[in-house]
Amino acid sequence: MVRKAVIAGNWKMHMTCAETRAFAAAFRPLIAGMPADREVVIAPPFTSIPTLCRHLEGAGVAIAGQNVHWEDQGAYTGMISAPMLLEHGVTHAILGHSEPRKYYSETDEQINLRARTAQRHGLLPILCVGESLDQREASETERVIHRQIEQGLEDVDPTHLIVAYEPIWAIGTGKTCPAEEANRICGLIRGWVGNADVTVQYGGSVNPATIDDLMAQSEIDGVLVGGASLQAESFARIVNYQVPARV
Ligand code: 13P
Repeated sequence: MVRKAVIAGNWKMHMTCAETRAFAAAFRPLIAGMPADREVVIAPPFTSIPTLCRHLEGAGVAIAGQNVHWEDQGAYTGMISAPMLLEHGVTHAILGHSEPRKYYSETDEQINLRARTAQRHGLLPILCVGESLDQREASETERVIHRQIEQGLEDVDPTHLIVAYEPIWAIGTGKTCPAEEANRICGLIRGWVGNADVTVQYGGSVNPATIDDLMAQSEIDGVLVGGASLQAESFARIVNYQVPARV
């Protein structure tokens, strides 16, 4: 089976509604001729979700939440629930990103609850995993990612899922992981998930200069893009990546 490529942009804490409108106006024509073998997802800040949905309606772009809480409602100041996202047409949710893991001490246990809740509501989880530079230098990469997969995906359906390999040392640093190494880790992740058809993305300083090489790798089914997804031209170039036809 040929896995469909999924190109996702994570806007993090960027883009006001006015900036979102300008992005959508510039981006829409640039992806009008996008090949049918790929899907595009954008995760804007929660406040920009309705604006992005409205201005990209019919453009073939799915919208993701940048996180989702495990409860449907309650006293959780600052959080967002699956029903709140679904009401706006959101279809995906990024979970386990290294930033909330680091800044808000998110644990694999919490990430697992989020993944189960997302699936229960029909949101497709994009589970992020990846090692720090210290862990890589200590040869702990495989052990760390294996644990994140095992704990994050306990009782999660491996057939309704995207996993993003995001080495922390490659995020926002301009140091894209060499394509062959990213390919090797994505292959290991596929094995640990236990579903040969699972979509595995690479993320970390993906840009227009590195995308074609990454997408030419056999185990990399897509990318999760931060900084380069904030400009319509650079994200459109990534969406319109060019590789020999996959067989
Ligand atoms: P950059 O593409 O800016 O390195 O960010 C990657 C990322 O964290 C996407 O989730």
